[in-house]
Amino acid sequence: MSRVRELIDKLDEKKHLDKEEWVTVLTEYTDDDREYAAGIAQKISIEHYGRKIFIRGIVEFSNVCKNDCLYCGIRRSNTNAQRYRLTADEIVECCDEGYELGFRTFVLQSGEDKSYSCETLCGIVKRLKERHPDCAVTLSLGELEFEEYKALREAGADRYLLRHETADKAHYEKLHPAEMSWENRMECLRQLKELGYQTGAGIMVGSPYQTAECIAEDMLFFESFKPEMIGIGPFLPHKDTPFRDEPKGSYELTLFLLSLCRILLPRVLLPATTALGTINPLGREAGVKAGANVIMPNLSPAAVRKKYMLYDNKICTGDESAQCRGCLEQRMKSIGYEVAITRGDFK
Ligand code: 5AD
Ligand code: FES
Repeated sequence: MSRVRELIDKLDEKKHLDKEEWVTVLTEYTDDDREYAAGIAQKISIEHYGRKIFIRGIVEFSNVCKNDCLYCGIRRSNTNAQRYRLTADEIVECCDEGYELGFRTFVLQSGEDKSYSCETLCGIVKRLKERHPDCAVTLSLGELEFEEYKALREAGADRYLLRHETADKAHYEKLHPAEMSWENRMECLRQLKELGYQTGAGIMVGSPYQTAECIAEDMLFFESFKPEMIGIGPFLPHKDTPFRDEPKGSYELTLFLLSLCRILLPRVLLPATTALGTINPLGREAGVKAGANVIMPNLSPAAVRKKYMLYDNKICTGDESAQCRGCLEQRMKSIGYEVAITRGDFK
């Protein structure tokens, strides 16, 4: 039996590997090892969640951002981005449409756009929870103050997505300008957990300067932080960023990491991300077969979809919400899964 396979078995049994073992897994794996891990991961996922996939409708309500992350297409320095903001009414309308389509989780995502006050955001959350008491509201608004996270939680928000991007401080500093801090990012995640949000962390696979050691640290971070959700997708370059000429992340490694996350944290809510569907046309199906159990299609109005481009060639930007919903139903059916009409909380 290969060394990597032994380590995958050890991970399954002990839910822990040390850093050196992680580096071995991440540098020595073969296609066979990946398939081995995917088999275990898919089995675990089916044990806990069945052959059911949770769907989350994302409303990308503003692409205005005060930050300048080097990888991101909506960074403030990108003067080619056409900026837009949806009104509170437009956001609520997208979610109403989503409700009719069977979505029971709404994800409100934006750049770090300070023009939406905390009161406005709380108002939107409250309206959504009043109109759809059977739904979960997830926020993905970046780094806020503790008091803001608290107010939004009290307004009814259930979950919060904030990828840590990398658990290695030196790596973080190569992906972000000096005014952003790794410590603050990690502190935000701790605050979100403390406030009782189901909390999502995550990384891009193959971001510039990422090493196997960086990913080993990410896995150790997942083990200790125990996020309820983990977002993992390949890094994909965007033509109007400093990383335009950097290579995209590995599709295969992304799938492998999904499996390893499922084995490490058996009940974690794990999306097959849009970036995974962008790097490969059957990426989301492959993600599910590697242990993912969530898909997060877009509920944004068709008119703004092409403007929320974090990376080049993003899928589903020409589609209507109803088209994506039907498409996903078919895609999941094709691999023997079905879309679940439920909030899909962490168990
Ligand atoms: N490629 C892949 N993922 C990206 N993200 C931002 N830019 C890119 C890119 N170029 C991811 C980040 C962020 C999430 C919303 O999207 O991880 O946290
Ligand atoms: Fe959007 Fe397939 S999920 S078109």
